[in-house]
Amino acid sequence: MNLIAPSILSCDFSKIGEEVESCQKAGADLLHVDVMDGCFVRNITIGPPVVKAIRACTPLTLDVHLMIDKPLRYIPQFLDAGADIITFHVEAGSPVDEVISLIKKAGKTAGIAISPNTPYEVVLPYLNEIGMVLVMSVEPGFGGQCFCPFVLPKVEALRAEIENRGLNVAIEIDGGINDETIADAKKAGANVFVSGSFIFKSNDRKAAIEKLRAIANG
Ligand code: DX5
Ligand code: ZN
Repeated sequence: MNLIAPSILSCDFSKIGEEVESCQKAGADLLHVDVMDGCFVRNITIGPPVVKAIRACTPLTLDVHLMIDKPLRYIPQFLDAGADIITFHVEAGSPVDEVISLIKKAGKTAGIAISPNTPYEVVLPYLNEIGMVLVMSVEPGFGGQCFCPFVLPKVEALRAEIENRGLNVAIEIDGGINDETIADAKKAGANVFVSGSFIFKSNDRKAAIEKLRAIANG
């Protein structure tokens, strides 16, 4: 199944509750929440208290993307805040198996994210343990960047490996997804599509989400 995940990084943070509700009304499948610490990436966004506030606004699945150093330190806080899916970067300096098991022990879904220049092979030892791989199609840190097509072969390779092993692991693609780029991402094998600026800049968010979904569903 193809899922559309608006990234609230592109929302108006002065009215975050309304923005979250508007994503829900527009038919979002997941709500993508970008957490940045100013160390792993050169931007600072939000932390557990804001995730908790978002949790209180919506029943939507919260897809929390941690772009933070040593994520193991903060997994309990994000679990307590109400995250449903926690995706952390393999490059971020925590023991990957420990992070996965902490998330899974809480009954939540663990995801591993890889930046554009990180080889997909680093995920393979953990593929049987996780629910999602997030392939970054821009350098993590900011919304509104252009999609990098050079990551698509990694999506293809991961999809082939997931099928080979008979697993049910989602492939999420994140960065520069819009009505022109989503088709290639889908074709390569992605099935969860994060989209920030395209959805939030559109006058009609429902139409924007429906358009993305229609292209993904081919
Ligand atoms: C970038 C974030 C993305 C970003 C997507 O580091 O992980 O989720 O908000 O925004 P767009 O769709 O504008 O590239
Ligand atoms: Zn993200």
